[in-house]
Amino acid sequence: MASQFPNDFYWGASTAAHQVEGNNTHSDFWLMENLEGSIFKERSGSAVDHYRLFKEDIALLSSFGLNSYRFSIEWARIEPEEGRFDPAAIEHYRDVLLACQSSNVMPIVTLHHFTTPQWLIRAGGWESAETPARFARYCAHVMKELGEWIPFVCTINEANISIGITKIIKRHQAGGGQAQVGINTDNMSQMQKYFMALGQAFGVHPQEVHSFLGARTEKGLEVIFKSHTEARSAIRQVSPNTRIGLSLSLYDIQSIPGGEELAAEAYHEEFLQFLPYLEDDDFFGLQNYTRMVYGPDGLLPVPADAEKTQMGNEYYPEALGGVVRFVSKYLKQPIMITENGIGTDNDERRIAFIDQALKGVQACISDGIRVIGYMHWSLLDNFEWQLGYSKTFGLIEVDRSTQERKPKPSAYHLGSIARDNSI
Ligand code: BGC
Repeated sequence: MASQFPNDFYWGASTAAHQVEGNNTHSDFWLMENLEGSIFKERSGSAVDHYRLFKEDIALLSSFGLNSYRFSIEWARIEPEEGRFDPAAIEHYRDVLLACQSSNVMPIVTLHHFTTPQWLIRAGGWESAETPARFARYCAHVMKELGEWIPFVCTINEANISIGITKIIKRHQAGGGQAQVGINTDNMSQMQKYFMALGQAFGVHPQEVHSFLGARTEKGLEVIFKSHTEARSAIRQVSPNTRIGLSLSLYDIQSIPGGEELAAEAYHEEFLQFLPYLEDDDFFGLQNYTRMVYGPDGLLPVPADAEKTQMGNEYYPEALGGVVRFVSKYLKQPIMITENGIGTDNDERRIAFIDQALKGVQACISDGIRVIGYMHWSLLDNFEWQLGYSKTFGLIEVDRSTQERKPKPSAYHLGSIARDNSI
């Protein structure tokens, strides 16, 4: 017999403003991508023009059978200069929320998904003790204007992402500058030149450019999590009916004999240490793409014969169920899967990935774990940060020369699971 999901389960897909909207000109990423010698493979440019085509995209999502859409509101658009809030940007996102409403799609809004206004970077970015108050002020503004249409809000996307980035950067022993997008730091002399240019562009010392996707000090981590708690208090005052959470990027952390202690340390670092900040949240946003396996000497490489995704991750959809099970032991609030997906040009593997991941989720639900929704990453093929448009995570393919949308079979597949509410 098919396995059922709860009747009120949220089925959807996710995007993030900078990755899909296009022309996010007041954001730090826009400046970083457009610098000479930039380490970005390409510029985001007009992205997939979702800023203009959002109605079509939401209608497509709904036509597949999905009932929820997770997207982000762009701080750099709402507050392009400190203290100046742009009413046209609010109007735009109100239209997006109304488009969801008219398609019977439940919106889940993220208030910060990696990109930051350039002025905030000049003011010390994600290492400044003043950032939590500034972030809370922006969140309060958005939620005062739009909260009545927002049932779920995720303050910060992957608030813990800098843990992994800091480790990669330490491994590369970067000198002469703060690495900002520490995903592929192979060419360090290019990196150093880039950081010098970056400092100049922001008008601060290169080591003082603290973008979100950078290495973080202990103090910086606290800035991020305090930004969440201060935003939560501010949002509660202006929009008491909205359910508030954040999202964390989590691997299913496993071990082979001898690696148990390292695996436990890694879970502490990536998740358990943040529990005090989450205590008053209404839900927990979980994002997972693969697993990590520890042996006695540290993290094990992905086995040579394992199937890999475009990102070089091990193809391992079982990770989702594993990590849901782990985190549920420590959380009192329900879990919303805010991202899970695969970068691949083989849509059949995406379909198989979705099925396997959802079987794991269903087994957790059968065991009494409260999972309330599954948002696939991503609705559309989009701008994969430093790696540009070459990585394809979408349920919908986009021809960027015409901006024509072409749903992939996986879109209909996930939609039919959603309609049946079973796998
Ligand atoms: C991020 C997305 C990103 C995805 C795939 C997540 O870490 O939230 O912005 O595109 O992973 O790499």
